[in-house]
Amino acid sequence: MKWYKASGIINIEKPFIKKVKAGRKTICLVGFEGKLYAVSAKCPHAGADLSEGLCVRKLIVCPYHRYTYDLETGKGGEGQHDFIETYPVETREDGVYIGVNSVWDKLIGR
Ligand code: FES
Repeated sequence: MKWYKASGIINIEKPFIKKVKAGRKTICLVGFEGKLYAVSAKCPHAGADLSEGLCVRKLIVCPYHRYTYDLETGKGGEGQHDFIETYPVETREDGVYIGVNSVWDKLIGR
């Protein structure tokens, strides 16, 4: 797994939703109730940018058709039969980092 520093994250105490790059991935980074979550920024339904959505409890709500996704598991709401990728997040002394598995990592099951 490779870790990428998320740029432009200054205050993680206030709630936020921000689109960041982690290698080639476009990630939706969410700060909610003091916790950080990193999920895919692209909605699997019709491709909307989830970073333009909103956060309700531990769900991100897509701005287009209001599908919901669990921020911890990525699982879509009841009846959606879809999911979004989730990524590990670490807060370090010098910033916020997002972990992304390479294709090789996925092939060997890391
Ligand atoms: S594009 Fe996200 S719910 Fe339709």
